[in-house]
Formats: sequence, C-alpha cells, structure tokens
Amino acid sequence: MEKKEKYELLLPQLKALTEGVSNNTGVLANAAALIHETMGFFWTGFYMIDGDILKLGPFQGPVACYEIGFGKGVCGSAWKEGRTLVVKDVEEFPGHIACSSLSRSEIVVPVIKEGKIIGVLDIDSKETGTFDQTDKDYLESAMKILSENLV
Ligand code: SME
Repeated sequence: MEKKEKYELLLPQLKALTEGVSNNTGVLANAAALIHETMGFFWTGFYMIDGDILKLGPFQGPVACYEIGFGKGVCGSAWKEGRTLVVKDVEEFPGHIACSSLSRSEIVVPVIKEGKIIGVLDIDSKETGTFDQTDKDYLESAMKILSENLV
C-alpha cells in the first residue's frame, strides 16, 4: 500500500479512536500505537511540554530519553520554532539527540491546542530520507484531530 493510502485510512481511525475520550494519556498512547502500527515506523511517540522542558510521553518503540530542553535536538527545535521539522539525515542536524544510534531520519510535528503548542509528535526512521511533504501534511492533520480530542 502507498504511504498516502495508509494515511487516508489512518485519519478517520484516529478520529474514531480519540473522540469523546476524557483521558489524555490514553488518547496519546492510542494515537502513538495507531500511527506506529499503521505506518510501520521505528519509533513513534510524544514529548509534552512541562514548564521549560519536554517530557517523554506515550510512545511505541525502543526506550527513549526522558527530557529534552527548549531549543535542544529536533524536538526542542520544533518546539522553539513552533513548526514541523523534517530531518532527512540526523547526522546533518546540529545538536540532534540520539536516543537510538539506529535512528537515521526524523519528523517532529507540534501538537497545538487552542493556538498554543503543548507538545510534539516525534517519529524516527532507521533509513535516511523517510519523511517528506506527504508525511508532514498528513501528520499535521493527524495532530489537529488529536488535539481537538485532548481535554
Ligand atoms: N532525536 C530526538 C530525541 C528523541 S528520540 O529520537 C526518541 C531529538 O533530537 O529531538
């Protein structure tokens, strides 16, 4: 199946899975699981803003770092810049935080609730150049659906 087709199936499932659930941890956990399983990524999870740091939230994949500072790594940079960052080759991203040495490319999408960034979705791949405009567009739509269903 093409990447686009998988995302087309994913979005309505995400909506159905998260609508009307008043349990943010559960919603984030199921969103990570759904994205991870549908797309077959290496690591899929959330870092949520807590004061002046990002804290590890629900995820699927290998163990990861607990905390990331503002402006640090890809996640902290996406937070600082308030926009999606697509990194084709993590070795070329200054300050990339290697939670796993197997990670080769990455996309980080802000989770925005009522105009305010509350966390990020971080996805890692074992291959370089995995993520492109298609991933950016669909994952931004996914985070919009998700944030509408966070309480
Ligand atoms: N590589 C990320 C850190 C998180 S782990 O990849 C799960 C970064 O540079 O922000």
